[in-house]
Amino acid sequence: MIQINNLSKVYKLSAKKMQELKTRNPEKIAVNGISLEAKEGQIYGLLGPNGAGKTTTLRCVATLLKPSEGDIKVCGYDTVKEGEKVRDCICFLTNEIKLDPNFTADYMFTFFGRLHGLKEDEIEARKNELFDAFGINDFKNKKIEELSTGMKQKAAIAVSLVHDPKVVIFDEPTSGLDIITARVVTDYLKKLRDDGKVVIVSTHIMSEAEKLCDCVGIIIDGKKVAEGTIPEILEETGTDDLEDAFFKLYSEHKSEEAVS
Ligand SMILES: Nc1ncnc2c1ncn2[C@@H]1O[C@H](COP(=O)(O)OP(=O)(O)O)[C@@H](O)[C@H]1O
Ligand SMILES: [Mg+2]
Repeated sequence: MIQINNLSKVYKLSAKKMQELKTRNPEKIAVNGISLEAKEGQIYGLLGPNGAGKTTTLRCVATLLKPSEGDIKVCGYDTVKEGEKVRDCICFLTNEIKLDPNFTADYMFTFFGRLHGLKEDEIEARKNELFDAFGINDFKNKKIEELSTGMKQKAAIAVSLVHDPKVVIFDEPTSGLDIITARVVTDYLKKLRDDGKVVIVSTHIMSEAEKLCDCVGIIIDGKKVAEGTIPEILEETGTDDLEDAFFKLYSEHKSEEAVS
Protein backbone atom coordinates (compact mmCIF):
# COMPACT_ATOMS: atom_id res chain seq x y z
CA MET A 1 0.00 0.00 0.00
CA ILE A 2 1.08 3.56 -0.71
CA GLN A 3 -0.29 6.24 1.62
CA ILE A 4 0.47 9.81 0.67
CA ASN A 5 -0.51 12.18 3.44
CA ASN A 6 -0.78 15.89 2.66
CA LEU A 7 2.30 15.93 0.44
CA SER A 8 3.77 19.24 -0.67
CA LYS A 9 6.98 19.77 -2.58
CA VAL A 10 8.52 23.18 -3.13
CA TYR A 11 11.50 23.58 -5.47
CA LYS A 12 13.98 26.37 -4.81
CA LEU A 13 14.64 28.07 -8.13
CA SER A 14 18.10 29.15 -9.24
CA ALA A 15 18.52 32.71 -10.56
CA LYS A 16 18.83 31.22 -14.06
CA LYS A 17 15.63 29.19 -13.66
CA MET A 18 13.79 32.28 -12.33
CA GLN A 19 14.85 34.15 -15.45
CA GLU A 20 13.77 31.27 -17.65
CA LEU A 21 10.34 31.13 -16.02
CA LYS A 22 10.10 34.95 -15.99
CA THR A 23 9.29 35.00 -12.29
CA ARG A 24 10.51 36.92 -9.25
CA ASN A 25 9.34 34.15 -6.93
CA PRO A 26 12.33 32.00 -5.89
CA GLU A 27 10.07 29.05 -5.05
CA LYS A 28 7.95 26.81 -7.22
CA ILE A 29 5.19 24.82 -5.50
CA ALA A 30 5.15 21.64 -7.60
CA VAL A 31 2.89 19.59 -5.32
CA ASN A 32 0.40 21.28 -3.03
CA GLY A 33 -1.17 19.15 -0.29
CA ILE A 34 -1.90 15.88 -2.09
CA SER A 35 -3.24 12.89 -0.16
CA LEU A 36 -4.07 9.55 -1.71
CA GLU A 37 -3.98 5.79 -1.18
CA ALA A 38 -2.98 3.18 -3.74
CA LYS A 39 -3.90 -0.35 -2.72
CA GLU A 40 -2.91 -3.93 -3.49
CA GLY A 41 -4.60 -5.42 -6.53
CA GLN A 42 -5.36 -1.99 -7.97
CA ILE A 43 -3.94 0.27 -10.66
CA TYR A 44 -4.01 3.86 -9.45
CA GLY A 45 -3.63 6.47 -12.19
CA LEU A 46 -2.20 9.91 -11.53
CA LEU A 47 -3.71 11.94 -14.29
CA GLY A 48 -2.87 15.48 -15.26
CA PRO A 49 -1.40 17.81 -17.87
CA ASN A 50 2.32 18.57 -18.21
CA GLY A 51 3.65 20.35 -15.16
CA ALA A 52 0.80 19.16 -12.90
CA GLY A 53 3.20 17.58 -10.41
CA LYS A 54 2.91 13.87 -11.33
CA THR A 55 6.64 13.15 -11.66
CA THR A 56 7.44 15.10 -8.50
CA THR A 57 4.84 13.10 -6.54
CA LEU A 58 6.15 9.78 -7.84
CA ARG A 59 9.77 10.76 -7.16
CA CYS A 60 8.80 11.50 -3.55
CA VAL A 61 7.12 8.08 -3.29
CA ALA A 62 10.24 6.44 -4.74
CA THR A 63 12.44 8.17 -2.08
CA LEU A 64 14.34 10.18 -4.73
CA LEU A 65 12.97 13.47 -3.38
CA LYS A 66 12.21 14.52 0.17
CA PRO A 67 8.77 16.04 0.76
CA SER A 68 8.73 19.69 1.85
CA GLU A 69 5.62 18.86 3.91
CA GLY A 70 3.57 15.77 4.63
CA ASP A 71 4.69 12.16 4.66
CA ILE A 72 4.48 9.01 2.58
CA LYS A 73 4.27 5.40 3.71
CA VAL A 74 5.05 2.54 1.37
CA CYS A 75 4.27 -0.97 2.70
CA GLY A 76 4.12 0.70 6.12
CA TYR A 77 7.61 2.24 5.85
CA ASP A 78 8.25 5.98 5.91
CA THR A 79 9.94 7.16 2.71
CA VAL A 80 12.23 9.57 4.58
CA LYS A 81 13.06 7.65 7.78
CA GLU A 82 13.09 4.16 6.26
CA GLY A 83 14.16 4.85 2.69
CA GLU A 84 16.16 1.68 2.30
CA LYS A 85 13.24 -0.56 3.32
CA VAL A 86 11.00 1.33 0.91
CA ARG A 87 13.50 0.91 -1.95
CA ASP A 88 13.56 -2.88 -1.32
CA CYS A 89 9.85 -3.21 -2.04
CA ILE A 90 9.42 -0.82 -4.97
CA CYS A 91 10.44 -0.42 -8.55
CA PHE A 92 10.47 2.99 -10.20
CA LEU A 93 10.39 3.57 -13.92
CA THR A 94 10.87 7.04 -15.33
CA ASN A 95 11.89 8.66 -18.58
CA GLU A 96 14.90 10.27 -16.93
CA ILE A 97 16.48 7.04 -15.75
CA LYS A 98 18.08 5.28 -18.69
CA LEU A 99 19.93 1.99 -19.00
CA ASP A 100 23.61 2.34 -19.81
CA PRO A 101 23.81 2.50 -23.66
CA ASN A 102 27.06 0.47 -23.79
CA PHE A 103 25.65 -2.70 -22.24
CA THR A 104 23.10 -5.30 -23.31
CA ALA A 105 19.67 -5.91 -21.77
CA ASP A 106 20.91 -9.35 -20.69
CA TYR A 107 23.91 -7.86 -18.86
CA MET A 108 21.89 -5.06 -17.24
CA PHE A 109 19.27 -7.51 -16.00
CA THR A 110 21.89 -9.72 -14.31
CA PHE A 111 23.70 -6.66 -12.95
CA PHE A 112 20.58 -5.26 -11.28
CA GLY A 113 19.57 -8.73 -10.05
CA ARG A 114 22.90 -9.02 -8.22
CA LEU A 115 22.55 -5.47 -6.90
CA HIS A 116 19.25 -6.54 -5.33
CA GLY A 117 21.00 -9.52 -3.77
CA LEU A 118 19.26 -12.22 -5.83
CA LYS A 119 20.86 -15.63 -6.36
CA GLU A 120 22.06 -16.51 -9.87
CA ASP A 121 19.29 -19.10 -10.44
CA GLU A 122 16.65 -16.63 -9.24
CA ILE A 123 17.98 -14.05 -11.69
CA GLU A 124 17.82 -16.57 -14.55
CA ALA A 125 14.25 -17.58 -13.66
CA ARG A 126 13.10 -13.93 -13.52
CA LYS A 127 14.95 -13.20 -16.75
CA ASN A 128 13.19 -16.06 -18.55
CA GLU A 129 9.80 -14.91 -17.36
CA LEU A 130 10.22 -11.20 -18.07
CA PHE A 131 12.16 -11.51 -21.33
CA ASP A 132 9.40 -13.84 -22.59
CA ALA A 133 6.63 -11.52 -21.44
CA PHE A 134 8.18 -8.49 -23.17
CA GLY A 135 9.62 -10.28 -26.21
CA ILE A 136 13.18 -9.29 -25.31
CA ASN A 137 14.96 -12.55 -26.22
CA ASP A 138 15.41 -11.48 -29.86
CA PHE A 139 17.48 -8.46 -28.92
CA LYS A 140 18.80 -9.29 -25.45
CA ASN A 141 22.42 -9.41 -26.66
CA LYS A 142 22.36 -6.11 -28.54
CA LYS A 143 23.78 -2.98 -26.94
CA ILE A 144 21.06 -0.71 -25.51
CA GLU A 145 22.24 2.10 -27.83
CA GLU A 146 21.32 -0.05 -30.87
CA LEU A 147 17.72 -0.56 -29.73
CA SER A 148 14.58 1.30 -30.81
CA THR A 149 12.64 3.43 -28.30
CA GLY A 150 10.14 0.63 -27.75
CA MET A 151 12.82 -2.02 -27.23
CA LYS A 152 14.67 0.25 -24.78
CA GLN A 153 11.49 0.83 -22.81
CA LYS A 154 10.70 -2.90 -22.66
CA ALA A 155 14.25 -3.62 -21.47
CA ALA A 156 14.03 -0.84 -18.85
CA ILE A 157 10.72 -2.22 -17.56
CA ALA A 158 12.03 -5.80 -17.37
CA VAL A 159 15.17 -4.65 -15.51
CA SER A 160 13.11 -2.54 -13.10
CA LEU A 161 11.03 -5.62 -12.18
CA VAL A 162 13.97 -8.01 -11.61
CA HIS A 163 13.43 -8.25 -7.83
CA ASP A 164 9.67 -8.92 -8.12
CA PRO A 165 8.73 -5.75 -6.19
CA LYS A 166 5.42 -5.50 -4.28
CA VAL A 167 4.95 -1.90 -5.40
CA VAL A 168 5.26 -0.79 -9.00
CA ILE A 169 5.69 2.93 -9.73
CA PHE A 170 5.71 3.79 -13.43
CA ASP A 171 5.97 7.40 -14.62
CA GLU A 172 4.37 7.76 -18.08
CA PRO A 173 5.27 4.16 -19.00
CA THR A 174 3.81 4.26 -22.52
CA SER A 175 4.99 7.72 -23.51
CA GLY A 176 6.61 7.64 -26.95
CA LEU A 177 5.65 4.01 -27.62
CA ASP A 178 3.73 2.68 -30.63
CA ILE A 179 0.33 1.16 -29.88
CA ILE A 180 1.54 -2.44 -30.00
CA THR A 181 4.38 -1.89 -27.54
CA ALA A 182 2.12 0.29 -25.38
CA ARG A 183 -0.37 -2.58 -25.23
CA VAL A 184 2.34 -5.04 -24.12
CA VAL A 185 3.17 -2.66 -21.30
CA THR A 186 -0.42 -2.00 -20.18
CA ASP A 187 -1.27 -5.73 -20.38
CA TYR A 188 1.68 -6.50 -18.13
CA LEU A 189 0.56 -3.80 -15.66
CA LYS A 190 -2.83 -5.52 -15.51
CA LYS A 191 -1.11 -8.84 -14.83
CA LEU A 192 0.85 -7.25 -11.98
CA ARG A 193 -2.39 -5.87 -10.59
CA ASP A 194 -4.04 -9.30 -10.84
CA ASP A 195 -1.03 -10.79 -9.02
CA GLY A 196 -1.90 -8.47 -6.11
CA LYS A 197 0.77 -5.80 -6.57
CA VAL A 198 0.24 -2.13 -5.82
CA VAL A 199 0.52 -0.34 -9.17
CA ILE A 200 0.67 3.44 -9.53
CA VAL A 201 1.17 5.03 -12.95
CA SER A 202 1.10 8.56 -14.23
CA THR A 203 -0.24 9.51 -17.60
CA HIS A 204 -1.62 12.47 -19.50
CA ILE A 205 -3.44 10.17 -21.92
CA MET A 206 -7.08 10.07 -20.81
CA SER A 207 -8.13 7.18 -23.07
CA GLU A 208 -5.34 5.03 -21.65
CA ALA A 209 -6.30 5.82 -18.05
CA GLU A 210 -9.92 5.04 -18.87
CA LYS A 211 -9.00 1.52 -19.97
CA LEU A 212 -6.22 0.78 -17.50
CA CYS A 213 -6.89 2.35 -14.12
CA ASP A 214 -9.15 1.09 -11.35
CA CYS A 215 -8.95 4.44 -9.62
CA VAL A 216 -7.66 7.80 -10.84
CA GLY A 217 -6.60 10.99 -9.13
CA ILE A 218 -6.76 14.05 -11.35
CA ILE A 219 -4.04 16.57 -10.58
CA ILE A 220 -3.93 20.16 -11.77
CA ASP A 221 -1.32 22.71 -10.62
CA GLY A 222 -0.10 20.42 -7.84
CA LYS A 223 -3.58 19.85 -6.36
CA LYS A 224 -5.83 16.81 -6.51
CA VAL A 225 -9.10 18.09 -7.97
CA ALA A 226 -10.97 14.77 -8.27
CA GLU A 227 -10.56 11.13 -7.37
CA GLY A 228 -12.46 7.91 -7.86
CA THR A 229 -13.25 5.12 -10.26
CA ILE A 230 -13.89 6.24 -13.85
CA PRO A 231 -17.71 5.83 -13.47
CA GLU A 232 -17.59 7.87 -10.25
CA ILE A 233 -15.69 10.70 -11.92
CA LEU A 234 -18.03 10.71 -14.92
CA GLU A 235 -21.05 10.82 -12.63
CA GLU A 236 -19.59 13.57 -10.47
CA THR A 237 -18.82 15.74 -13.50
CA GLY A 238 -21.92 14.76 -15.51
CA THR A 239 -19.83 13.76 -18.53
CA ASP A 240 -19.57 10.74 -20.85
CA ASP A 241 -15.83 10.30 -21.07
CA LEU A 242 -12.73 11.11 -19.07
CA GLU A 243 -11.48 13.74 -21.50
CA ASP A 244 -14.69 15.78 -21.11
CA ALA A 245 -14.53 15.24 -17.35
CA PHE A 246 -10.95 16.52 -17.33
CA PHE A 247 -11.82 19.69 -19.28
CA LYS A 248 -14.72 20.39 -16.96
CA LEU A 249 -12.53 20.00 -13.86
CA TYR A 250 -9.80 22.07 -15.51
CA SER A 251 -12.06 25.02 -16.27
CA GLU A 252 -13.59 24.84 -12.76
CA HIS A 253 -10.11 24.86 -11.24
CA LYS A 254 -8.98 27.80 -13.36
CA SER A 255 -12.07 29.89 -12.56
CA GLU A 256 -11.71 29.15 -8.82
CA GLU A 257 -8.10 30.27 -9.08
CA ALA A 258 -9.14 33.50 -10.81
CA VAL A 259 -11.56 34.30 -7.95
CA SER A 260 -9.04 33.65 -5.15
N1 LIG B 1 14.04 20.45 -10.35
C1 LIG B 1 13.08 21.37 -10.49
N2 LIG B 1 13.31 22.67 -10.17
C2 LIG B 1 12.34 23.60 -10.32
N3 LIG B 1 11.09 23.35 -10.76
C3 LIG B 1 10.81 22.08 -11.10
C4 LIG B 1 11.78 21.02 -10.99
N4 LIG B 1 11.19 19.87 -11.40
C5 LIG B 1 9.93 20.18 -11.75
N5 LIG B 1 9.69 21.51 -11.58
C6 LIG B 1 8.41 22.21 -11.82
O1 LIG B 1 7.43 21.63 -10.98
C7 LIG B 1 6.18 21.51 -11.66
C8 LIG B 1 5.73 20.06 -11.66
O2 LIG B 1 6.63 19.29 -12.46
P1 LIG B 1 6.48 17.73 -12.69
O3 LIG B 1 6.32 17.06 -11.37
O4 LIG B 1 7.58 17.29 -13.55
O5 LIG B 1 5.07 17.65 -13.47
P2 LIG B 1 4.47 16.51 -14.46
O6 LIG B 1 5.26 15.26 -14.24
O7 LIG B 1 3.04 16.41 -14.04
O8 LIG B 1 4.60 17.05 -15.85
C9 LIG B 1 6.40 22.09 -13.06
O9 LIG B 1 5.97 23.42 -13.05
C10 LIG B 1 7.90 22.00 -13.23
O10 LIG B 1 8.36 23.01 -14.11
MG1 LIG C 1 6.24 14.07 -15.60
